[in-house]
Amino acid sequence: MFRYGADYYPEHWPEERWPVDARLMQEAHINTVRLAEFAWSRLEPSDGNYDFAWLDRAIEVLHDHGIDVVLGTPTASPPPWLAQSHPEIYRVDEQGRRLTYGNRREYCPHSPTYREFARRITLAMAEHYADHPAVIGWQIDNEFGDPCYCELSRQEFQVWLQHQYGSLHNLNTAWGTIFWSHVYTEWSQIPLPVATGGVPNPGLELDFKRFSSASYVGFQQEQIDILRAVCPKQFITHNFMGFTYDRIDYYDLARNLDFVSWDNYPRGFWREGVDLPAVALGHDTMRSLKRQSFWVMEEQAGHAGWTTMTPAPRPGEIRLWSWQAVAHGADAIVYFRWRTSRFGTEQYWHGILEHHGQPTRRYAEVQQTGEEFARLGDLLTGAETRAQVAMLMDYDTRFAFQGQPNQAEFSYPAYFLSWYKALHRFNVGVDIVKPGTNLSGYKLLIAPAPYILTPDLASSLENYVRNGGTLVTTFRAGVKDYFNAVVERPLPGLLADTLGIVVEEYDPQPVGQGNHIIFSHRELSRLASSAPVRVWCDVIEPRGAEVLATYGEGYYAGRAAITLNRVGAGRAVYVGALGDTELHEPLVAWLLAASGVEPVLETPPGVEATVRWQGGRRLLFVLNLNAEATTVRLPATHDLISGRDLAGDILLPGYGVLLLSEG
Ligand code: GAL
Repeated sequence: MFRYGADYYPEHWPEERWPVDARLMQEAHINTVRLAEFAWSRLEPSDGNYDFAWLDRAIEVLHDHGIDVVLGTPTASPPPWLAQSHPEIYRVDEQGRRLTYGNRREYCPHSPTYREFARRITLAMAEHYADHPAVIGWQIDNEFGDPCYCELSRQEFQVWLQHQYGSLHNLNTAWGTIFWSHVYTEWSQIPLPVATGGVPNPGLELDFKRFSSASYVGFQQEQIDILRAVCPKQFITHNFMGFTYDRIDYYDLARNLDFVSWDNYPRGFWREGVDLPAVALGHDTMRSLKRQSFWVMEEQAGHAGWTTMTPAPRPGEIRLWSWQAVAHGADAIVYFRWRTSRFGTEQYWHGILEHHGQPTRRYAEVQQTGEEFARLGDLLTGAETRAQVAMLMDYDTRFAFQGQPNQAEFSYPAYFLSWYKALHRFNVGVDIVKPGTNLSGYKLLIAPAPYILTPDLASSLENYVRNGGTLVTTFRAGVKDYFNAVVERPLPGLLADTLGIVVEEYDPQPVGQGNHIIFSHRELSRLASSAPVRVWCDVIEPRGAEVLATYGEGYYAGRAAITLNRVGAGRAVYVGALGDTELHEPLVAWLLAASGVEPVLETPPGVEATVRWQGGRRLLFVLNLNAEATTVRLPATHDLISGRDLAGDILLPGYGVLLLSEG
C-alpha cells in the first residue's frame, strides 16, 4: 500500500479540532500520520507516571477516518522534570560548554541515566501500543545528531579504543603518537578532540568520529531491541537527513532498521535556492543505504523557517518534490507538518495548513497529489530501481576530510555532488555504495577521492576492473590508511598499479585560481576541447596508462592530468584535477558510452528521467524540474497520471510530471 501522510501534533490543538483534521486528511487521501515524536512531557508528565489516554483518543479519531499511525519514540526532546533531576544528561559541545534546557537533541548519547529513561518510555509505549490495530510502526527518536564531549563520553571513548586496538602499543603506533610527544601510557590519558585543544592528531580525530557515530547506532539499537521484542508486528525506522548529514555512518545506522526514512526540505532555510539534482542525490543515497525503497517521513509542505522564512513553495513544487521522491524509490510521502504551529520555535515552519487551519492552495495541491498516488500507488509501491552505475561513498573518508580538507576550498560532499550531477544530467540510475559492496552488477563506478583506502577496498576496486568494470577515481585517492596516517608509497598508493600511474607531485591551487586541461584523447576531444580546473592538480607520470588530457599552463603544462589504464577486462580512469560541469559532463558522456550504459531518456536541461520496475513492468518518470514549460521528445507512450497517449515533442509544463509505462 502506498503510504501518504502528514506529521501530526494533536497535542498542539484542542481536542474538538481533531475530527476536523481527520476529515480534511481523509479528503486529501491521507492514510498515515506520524505522531508523538516530541510528546514526552505529555506521555510521561512526571517521573514514571504515564498518560496515554489523550494519544489513545487521538489515534481513535484518526483510525475512525481510515488513517494509520507511525509512533515516534519521543527521546529527541526530554521533558523538563528529567532535565531538572538529572542535569548530567546534557551534551557538552566541542567548545566544552554543557548545553542547557530549552531546545531539543541536547542529550548525551552515552549517558546511562538518559539511556535508562529512554528505554523506559520506549518500553511503556511499546507495551501500550503493541497490539493497537492502527499502529503500523515506529520511528525511533528524531534525526540523530551531534557528538558529545563530556567527561563520561571521554571515558566511553577510551573504552571503545581499548576494544579497537587491544593495546596502547597498537594505538600509539597507528596514530603516530610519537609526534609532539603524545605517547600514551594509560588509556585514561587519551583526550577528546575538543575545539580548544587545537588541531588534533588525525588518527584520534577520525576514531572519535567513528566512535560518536557508533554511539548513536548503539543508542538506537537499545530501542530497536525493545520494540522488536514487544512489537514484532510493527516496523521500525528512523528519519535520516539525506546525503548532506555527515556525522553518523548512515549505512551502519540503517542496518537493523526495517527501512530508511528521511526528511526532505528542498527549499529548507539552510539553502538559498532549490537544487533538485542535489535532492535526487539525497533520495538515491537513502535508497542505497539498504538497497530498498524508503519513506520520506518529512516532506516539505510550506515555507520553511524558524525566525525568518523561505519563499513559499511555488504552485506545483510540492507535487513535483513528492513525485521526484517516488521516482527515486520512495514508497511513502509524509508531509511536515499537517498544520502550522501557532507557538514554539517552529512557528514559521509551515505545514499543509496555515496557522488558521483552513485549507488553501497547498492543501489543494496535496489533495491532487494524494489522488494520483491513491490511484497509482499499487503500481509504485515496492517498485525496484536497477542502477548500472554506482558512486562509492565512504563515511571514513568523509570524516577524515572534515578534519583535513587538504585545500581550503575542497569539500568531499560538494565534489561528490558535482560528479553525481553529471550522471543526473544524462539520466542514468545511480546507486551510492559503500566499501565492501559487491560491485559486479555495475558497468561504471565513480569513486571520488577515496582518501582512506584500506587494502580490502583497493583489492575490491582492482577486482572490479579486472572483471570488466570501468572505474573512475581521482586525486586524493589512496592517501591514507585506515588509521588516517599517510601511506608510505607513491600516490595513488594501493591503486597505483591498477591505475598504471604514479603521482609525481601534487599542487593544491590558491583559492580562486587554477589551471585548465586539454583533452587529447580522440573521442573525448570531439566532445570538448578543454576544461577549467581548480583546487587541486596532480602531476601524473603514466606507468602504462594512456593519457586522456594534459595541463594547459604552468610548469607542468603538457603533463598528464587524466589517464586511462586497461587492466584485465576493464578500465581504470584517473582524474588528477578538480573540475566542474565542463570537465565532468564530457567525461561522463564518454564514459557512459564506453562502458555501455544507456541513458534512460535524452532530455533537455532540467528535465529528469528515472526508471523503476514493478516486476517486468518498466515505469518511466519524466519530471520537469524547471519553472518554465519545456519540450521533451518521447517515444509513443502512455501517461498513467493523465491517462493520455503521448508521442513525439511534448510541451511539459513547469514542474510537470509524467509517469510513462510501455507495458
Ligand atoms: C526537521 C525535524 C522536524 C522539524 C523540521 C523543521 O529536521 O525533524 O522535527 O524540526 O526539521 O524544522
